[in-house]
Amino acid sequence: MLKTLIIYESKYGTTRKVAKYLSLVLGPARYCTTSQFQPEYEDFDLVIVGSPIYSGKILPPVSRFLEDQAEWLEGKLVALFSTSISPEDGYEKLVDMEKILGKDVPKKALGGTLKLDSLDSDDQRDLELFSEMVGFPLEDMDLFNLEEVLEYALELKNIRDNLLPAMPTAELQEAVERFLKSHNTCTLSTSFQERVRSTPIEYTYHQGHLYLLSEGGEKFANLLRNNQVSVAVYEDYTTMNNLAGMQISGEASLVETEDEYQDIISMKGLNVNMIRNLPFNMNIIKIKVNRIEFLYSEFARKGYGTKQILNFQ
Ligand SMILES: Cc1cc2nc3c(=O)[nH]c(=O)nc-3n(C[C@H](O)[C@H](O)[C@H](O)COP(=O)(O)O)c2cc1C
Repeated sequence: MLKTLIIYESKYGTTRKVAKYLSLVLGPARYCTTSQFQPEYEDFDLVIVGSPIYSGKILPPVSRFLEDQAEWLEGKLVALFSTSISPEDGYEKLVDMEKILGKDVPKKALGGTLKLDSLDSDDQRDLELFSEMVGFPLEDMDLFNLEEVLEYALELKNIRDNLLPAMPTAELQEAVERFLKSHNTCTLSTSFQERVRSTPIEYTYHQGHLYLLSEGGEKFANLLRNNQVSVAVYEDYTTMNNLAGMQISGEASLVETEDEYQDIISMKGLNVNMIRNLPFNMNIIKIKVNRIEFLYSEFARKGYGTKQILNFQ
């Protein structure tokens, strides 16, 4: 699995908080300050470097880190972030960091926070000087935006996952379909606003679709408002060398036409009359699969990355 390293400096904790949240979304990951960096971290696949902006500059240990580690960073996937009160300052300094690296990389200027009563006396004095110089209002500010941080984390996750040694699509598709057809129970996750629900349910896979039979329930309160679903199919955990599980993203709809309904009931090996004679309606949820993330130790044994991603048309 691809590993992410986040190197940061922080005086009052905002940049540290960003580093921690990035590590949570991008795990397996480690976040540490420049002084905690160990040479063995050079084998991480994505390296993210972050700094707050103080008096128009990134913190010196961060620029030193970029300079000192330039050699191995050259061949790495690197991304940058800053935290600051002024997004312009943040972005400008990211461009300077890029220059040290000598290459264009993904970068994001994130909102920072300022709590005047937590500053040490040097920073209080510097801030007063700085605010006089550039007309910075001297007051508490909170521009930290969790959603912005998480969006950036997901963007980087996408970029990182594209580094995976990809299996030929036909071989991956074959493995995905074999796995789906050799299982019959999934966890269907639906949501609408604060309402989130995971439902264990039997499924049948056929040509890029999952078909689920249901007499009803709370999942429909979500599905009727939000057709985006996530589905998990997996085997019980045994050891780290025996992982097998997939996360499916798709769009759900209800099967409404009689012909399609009958075809699916027959495909499931059920008798249409028997279903129709039940004392209640039996509904079919059809999920068009858009993307499957498949974590499968078998792939590693074949020389590919343990995690493979299959996008459906
Ligand atoms: C002394 C001082 C100077 C600062 N200078 C700038 C600046 O030049 N530009 C800016 O956008 N933000 C500036 N800030 C705001 C910080 O970048 C922001 O508070 C950041 O989130 C702090 O991160 P940290 O908590 O990780 O240290 C300054 C803050 C202090 C205390």
